[in-house]
Amino acid sequence: MNKLHEVIEEVLVSEEEIQQACKRLAAQVSQDYKDKEPLMVGLLKGCIPFIADLTRQMDINVQIDYMAVSSYHGGSSQSNEVKIEKDLKTSVEGRNVIIAEDIVDSGATLQKVIGLFEYRGAKSVEVVTLLNKQAGRKIRMIPKYVGIEIPNKFVVGYGLDWADHYRNLPYIGVVKKELL
Ligand code: PRP
Repeated sequence: MNKLHEVIEEVLVSEEEIQQACKRLAAQVSQDYKDKEPLMVGLLKGCIPFIADLTRQMDINVQIDYMAVSSYHGGSSQSNEVKIEKDLKTSVEGRNVIIAEDIVDSGATLQKVIGLFEYRGAKSVEVVTLLNKQAGRKIRMIPKYVGIEIPNKFVVGYGLDWADHYRNLPYIGVVKKELL
C-alpha cells in the first residue's frame, strides 16, 4: 500500500468542512428528535468517525448501536442482497431509528437495511449521511439528513476506504486516477 497522503490528488472535503457539516446535522437531528429517544445505528466500518463526531455534537440523549452488512451487487438492482455480518444488540421494535452512514452511493445498502428495520417493527427509520453521491444512485433513495453533496469521484478518508485502507485520513480525498 502507498503512503497515506500520497494517494490523494485533491482534498474534496476538508476537516473544517466536515466538522461544520456535523455541527449542522447534529442541530437538525437534535431538534427533530428531542422527545423521541432515537436509536442511532451506525453501519460499520465506514460510519465510525462520522457517528463519533455527529453524536458528540448532539444535545439530546441518543442510544447508539452498530451493524455490519456486506453487499453483493448482482446484475440488476433487484438482485442486490445484503448479508448481515454483525447484527444489532438492540431491538428496533417501536423505536425511532436513525441510520448513520458515511456515504450513500447506489442506495442499495440502505434500501435493504431500511426494509429490514421496517420488517422488525421500527416506528420510524430515517437516514443521516455525511456524504451523498447522487450520481451513483441505482435506486430511489433520498436520505433525510445530508451533510455534503459530492461528485461521482472515488473518495477515501474519514471512514471511507480503498481496499480497507485510508480510512484514517482526517479529510475526504479523491484518489489519484493513475493508481486506480
Ligand atoms: C460503503 C458505505 C455504505 C455503502 C454505500 O460501505 O459505508 O455503507 O458502501 O454504498 P451503496 O449506497 O452503493 O450501497 P462498504 O460496503 O464499502 O463497507 P465499509 O463501511 O466497511 O467500508
